[in-house]
Amino acid sequence: MERIKLKFARGVVVEFVDRELGIKRVEEWAARGTRFVQLVYGPKGCGKTAWLKQSAELLRDWGYDVIYVNPLQRDYVAYINLKEVVRRLAEAAAERSGVAEIKLADLAIQLAKYALKRRRKKIAVLADDVFKAIGLGNAAGYVKWMLSVIEYPPGDYESAVAVVATSGEGGGGVSLRELSKHRWADLRVMWNMSQGGFKQLYELLPGQKPSFEVAWRLTGGNPSALAKLYEENWDVSKVVEEVVVKGDFSFLQTWRSWLEEAVEDPDVLWRVDAPRELVERLVEWNFIVFNLPKREPWLWVDAPPPEADREIGVGRYVAWQTPLHREAVRRALGGV
Ligand SMILES: Nc1ncnc2c1ncn2[C@@H]1O[C@H](COP(=O)(O)OP(=O)(O)OP(=O)(O)O)[C@@H](O)[C@H]1O
Ligand SMILES: [Mg+2]
Repeated sequence: MERIKLKFARGVVVEFVDRELGIKRVEEWAARGTRFVQLVYGPKGCGKTAWLKQSAELLRDWGYDVIYVNPLQRDYVAYINLKEVVRRLAEAAAERSGVAEIKLADLAIQLAKYALKRRRKKIAVLADDVFKAIGLGNAAGYVKWMLSVIEYPPGDYESAVAVVATSGEGGGGVSLRELSKHRWADLRVMWNMSQGGFKQLYELLPGQKPSFEVAWRLTGGNPSALAKLYEENWDVSKVVEEVVVKGDFSFLQTWRSWLEEAVEDPDVLWRVDAPRELVERLVEWNFIVFNLPKREPWLWVDAPPPEADREIGVGRYVAWQTPLHREAVRRALGGV
């Protein structure tokens, strides 16, 4: 499998590194097909898109027709010998109107169905960050529709792989757990990179940089956080400020005492008496991931995070998406 090239930061292109287990997981899917839609969620910027695009290469090598869409980025990949499919994706991606995003999301499924009928071949449909494009209220319908295509395909086919990726739980409007409860989807979490993988990425960065230990402590292995710090010349305050503007910090002041505890140990938010409103907001803002599954490898796409690692803000049940998010809250509370 050829490793894809990724635009990492201004002027820096890197080759896809690590994610050995995440790649192995896709190989398992490629070998057997996916019975249900695989719904992958994880912190913003943890590397879902990079992994999905690398997966597109892998699936092609396994003889799959591959359709990948990322509506928000107007991006697509079509490894398929059907001109009609490529043309329609290209047209939708080039469209400048507001409906282009919805169109791309819908086309992924429509064209997968069309391809199954025409080609009677293995098909992989990879939908990246589609819920934001179609509206969270339509997420369940989308996943059900995708399932119906792989479950009751038009005509015979060898095998199908269906994956939907999304960051966090997306604002409470869609309950990912609800989708998996109905067995339309298997919920799988992808975490930030493991220390070993993250080190490989860190080594690729040119120029002056802080020690690896510092980079790890600041980012918790989140590659996007690493890219931001690199672009801002490792000015932590500047990067934290960017996070701060996304939150409503007068709201946070209301929950000061809970948050003071949560920056030390995010699992306090798991307590039965923790305020729902606060938890929901932190999830919605992509500050925390709530309800982390057991660290059983099969529940995770790649290596799970440690059981609990206070240094990078990971608890057993709740984790800060990155230490930078925790730092933003800490600063907002005035405890710099
Ligand atoms: N395995 C990897 N090897 C090299 N670079 C990576 C890897 N994973 C992620 N990156 C880089 O890190 C950055 C963030 O990754 P990516 O965009 O895939 O995250 P994401 O989870 O899709 O983010 P979002 O939640 O915003 O959609 C990108 O610049 C990407 O190229
Ligand atoms: Mg992405």
